[in-house]
Amino acid sequence: MTTQAASTEIASRTAAIIDEMKGLEGPLLPILHSIQEEFGHVPKDALPVIADGLNLSRAEVHGVVSFYHDFRAQPAGRHVLKLCQAEACQSMGSDAVAAKVKQLLGIDFHETTRDGSVTLEPVYCLGLCACSPSAMLDGEVIGRLDDEKIEEIVAEVRS
Ligand code: FES
Repeated sequence: MTTQAASTEIASRTAAIIDEMKGLEGPLLPILHSIQEEFGHVPKDALPVIADGLNLSRAEVHGVVSFYHDFRAQPAGRHVLKLCQAEACQSMGSDAVAAKVKQLLGIDFHETTRDGSVTLEPVYCLGLCACSPSAMLDGEVIGRLDDEKIEEIVAEVRS
């Protein structure tokens, strides 16, 4: 698909989502979630369509997308690894876990490895504080992260 065709496709699918959901109270967040579900991320070509559809400025839409950690500006990798950075996990060493994972994968938070295997994201409490430090890999929670578990996770996402 050409770039032009891809952005036309994004615009028309985005417009359909907006039509379906704009009657909701506070429609922006549900619309953004639906768009991310549809495309795997919130494409930049969708932003002006949302702004026009909801009568907002592009800056407002952009501000909301960048404020919420859940929204991605780029497509995710084949795996998504989320590391909890909230208080209980912090007190149990989540900073060291994050540093080790970043070093092993060679990426920072909000980045995807060059081979497209994994996207690394912070998350703020997975409800697994009793087993901190915690993570979520492709929707599955993992508690009590230690060096061994980190290495297993990294090997799994890289395989
Ligand atoms: S603070 Fe990490 S799971 Fe609750």
